[in-house]
Amino acid sequence: MADTNAETSPAKAKVAVFVSGTGTNMAALLYASRLPGAAYEIVLVAANDADAGGLQIAATEGVATFALSHKGMSRADHDAAMEKAALDAGAQYIALAGYMRILSPGFVQRWEGRMLNIHPSLLPQYTGLDTHARAIEAGDAHGGVSVHLVTEELDAGEILGQIAVAIMPGDTPDTLAARVRLAEHQLYPRVLGDYVSRGSDPRHLLERLRALALALPQTHERESHGAPGFRVGSEKSGKYFAHFSDRHHGTPHISLLVKCSGMDELEHFVETQPEAYHKPAYYGASGWIGIILNRPGLDWEAVDEWLQRSWRQVAPKSVTRLLDAADEF
Ligand code: GAR
Repeated sequence: MADTNAETSPAKAKVAVFVSGTGTNMAALLYASRLPGAAYEIVLVAANDADAGGLQIAATEGVATFALSHKGMSRADHDAAMEKAALDAGAQYIALAGYMRILSPGFVQRWEGRMLNIHPSLLPQYTGLDTHARAIEAGDAHGGVSVHLVTEELDAGEILGQIAVAIMPGDTPDTLAARVRLAEHQLYPRVLGDYVSRGSDPRHLLERLRALALALPQTHERESHGAPGFRVGSEKSGKYFAHFSDRHHGTPHISLLVKCSGMDELEHFVETQPEAYHKPAYYGASGWIGIILNRPGLDWEAVDEWLQRSWRQVAPKSVTRLLDAADEF
């Protein structure tokens, strides 16, 4: 069906999928990406084996493919060639789907936070190979599957989602693997879709903001006009240093409102960086600036700095004095 609302629907995230074999997870990701409203599209399927079944499925479905055997190549060179193919295809994320290669540290670092993997166990249990045999051997009640972010340590990055799969009496590694595969095909498209949408998901943005705001000394959360707000000082006499605003008063922005030094600074930021700052309704008039959170490339360290600055402006002197003294050491 044609998208009649193209202006309001966010651009789809571009994903390259790396496979080594059959590619059933790649196929699950691909077909899910063709559902209405999907958050991502697959721009490339790449393999380290030209005979990988996944390549044939992708080609038949009209998806670009790339194959390069790793044989006779250094790990870093092979990774770099695969990475180049992904970048040339415009990929913003890489989804490893049965890609049976250890990756070089430089490659992993360059894609930190943008590379996901599916692993057939309930991590942190059973990293590495033969996961189903090990779960059966141990007498576990469940095997399962995890999707996680890729970090340098094997199968150890942040777990983004899991499904447990009950082990039946008489299960062999193959029979268990077949049921885990069904769970994999449910899990991966959902987790990938949610992950690439995080930057525009108010629940996720608020969760991150809350963690930063409440990490500052003597803070607590208190609703203000129906929206989350953060105060410093006692429950009784605390003052607001931050508000969370989810597309209020007809703006498309999900934003953090913080105190800036005054109207001049506010107008300056809003004029020179309108993609990052806005003047919020009502609050703007009293020197609160809106820092837009639902935008690509948001720098959370900068958000943290704004929070700290606002906190300092509002916090009682008795608290800031202690911090100033600590800063001198
Ligand atoms: C899947 O079971 C996946 O979890 C596993 O390889 C299989 C690939 O199947 N991945 C790993 O073991 C990674 N260490 P597929 O090619 O049909 O998607």
